[in-house]
Amino acid sequence: MTVATSTALLEVVDVHRRFGGVHALRGATLSIKHGGTVHALVGENGSGKSTMLKALAGQLQPDAGTIRLDGEEVEFSHPTVALRRGIVTVTQETTLAPDLSIAENIFMGHRMERGRLGIRWGATSRRAGEVLDRLHLELDPNQIVRRLRPDQQQMVEIARAISMDARVLILDEATSSLTDDEVESLFAIVRRLRDDGVATVFVSHRLSETFALADEVTILRDGSTVEAGPLEDYDRTSLLGAMVGREHEEPPVRPEFRSSESALLSLRGVSVPGAVQEIDLDVEPGEIVGLAGLVGAGRSELLGAVFGLYPDRSGEIRLAGESIRVRSPRDAVDHGIGFVPADRKGQGLVLTMSVRENLIMAASCNRPRMLRPSASAELPVVDHALATMRIRTASPNAAIGTLSGGNQQKVALGKWLAAESKVLLLDEPTRGVDVGAKTEIYRLLGDAADSGIGILVSSSEVPELLAICDRIVVMFRGRVMATLGREEATEAAITRYGTGHE
Ligand SMILES: Nc1ncnc2c1ncn2[C@@H]1O[C@H](COP(=O)(O)OP(=O)(O)OP(=O)(O)O)[C@@H](O)[C@H]1O
Ligand SMILES: [Mg+2]
Repeated sequence: MTVATSTALLEVVDVHRRFGGVHALRGATLSIKHGGTVHALVGENGSGKSTMLKALAGQLQPDAGTIRLDGEEVEFSHPTVALRRGIVTVTQETTLAPDLSIAENIFMGHRMERGRLGIRWGATSRRAGEVLDRLHLELDPNQIVRRLRPDQQQMVEIARAISMDARVLILDEATSSLTDDEVESLFAIVRRLRDDGVATVFVSHRLSETFALADEVTILRDGSTVEAGPLEDYDRTSLLGAMVGREHEEPPVRPEFRSSESALLSLRGVSVPGAVQEIDLDVEPGEIVGLAGLVGAGRSELLGAVFGLYPDRSGEIRLAGESIRVRSPRDAVDHGIGFVPADRKGQGLVLTMSVRENLIMAASCNRPRMLRPSASAELPVVDHALATMRIRTASPNAAIGTLSGGNQQKVALGKWLAAESKVLLLDEPTRGVDVGAKTEIYRLLGDAADSGIGILVSSSEVPELLAICDRIVVMFRGRVMATLGREEATEAAITRYGTGHE
């Protein structure tokens, strides 16, 4: 006779994993006692969260340690092995086939309804409809995935997971590029699954999300589990303290900005068809100006326009009072304008290149080839960037793709700081970055501004803008709704203007 109550649903015991010289997991442990719970996995960037979850999903194999499912030792030699046992992962990167329908994606080939004449489309679509219904998703199973919003695509991934009788759903930063409303609908689904007995492992660098959703928590530090228990035993301060192993530093408060009445970057009547209209905006030297607004308000497009990404951009861009020609990113870089896009994997970094090459790339394309620093002269620049930003990498020569998500973001930012840009354009600069590193980044941005750089930063996290900006420009449907000084900028005001109210 087995004593069901004493057997944990899923256990990771003392798992180790090295990547070359990096000891990513060194005694990591996780215990999910039973289904119907949400388990938060928290830790700083590079602490080993994704590595542990990949081991659980069969995407990589541990060097040592044990994984047990229902008390039985398992070896997940391949993702399909874990899938067959009901362990399903959803990350920010979609694994859906964009040109197939929702139904086809949910049942991916081999699991579609088949009859004597091949795939029975009607039955497949009907079964997909049932899965969508179970999640209360109002989506047409025949719709092509490419046309869906990112959050809807994630919902389809989850629907696929459910259709495979998932027992454990792994969400590794699945919320990081969703809007607040989208996060809420994802949470609603996770709660529904919890009621159905599914266990979820949840990773997010937004502590508010963790506290809103999770029941249990496991804390990783440097690849080891340092604490675990009911989340209600923790508050923000104690959780952060356990994550970093010292007291968490809150970001420094920016001193009052004194206007010099001179603009470094001025936009006059800047428009991009279908995205932004007639934008006037100034950034003074040493000033941090925030861009607030809903997703789709045109914040990213405005930044991209200043960086020369849109050939059909009209209006004027001035730098220190002089009208400049910015028809390509190359022009922008030549004028000392740096850009950290929200999609760092697409545009911000060259994933096949090393950390060092990424850091110096922007710096060296600012100079003629003859004057480019030699490899030895680069070293101090690279070392400085790695140290000040606390970038965790095995070596400066490691491929950037091997860094944890948050550390990649720091390199994307560091490359423009190393290039000594005059103006920095930042889109969601702390997405995927842990709380401690956020403080670091805020401090670096403050220092950069103090040295005279003008910074234009877009973020969907309003508290972030309130913490770092001297002024906040609120956009709505491609236009500026309001420009708020420190005194007037509150969450309420930003929400009001950001939703189109006067
Ligand atoms: N394929 C790989 N090759 C080399 N090093 C790797 C590889 N994958 C992960 N690492 C290293 O292992 C460590 C743990 O990385 P992991 O991605 O698990 O961190 P994380 O906790 O998920 O961080 P983040 O919060 O930034 O996502 C990091 O130092 C990372 O650079
Ligand atoms: Mg990760």
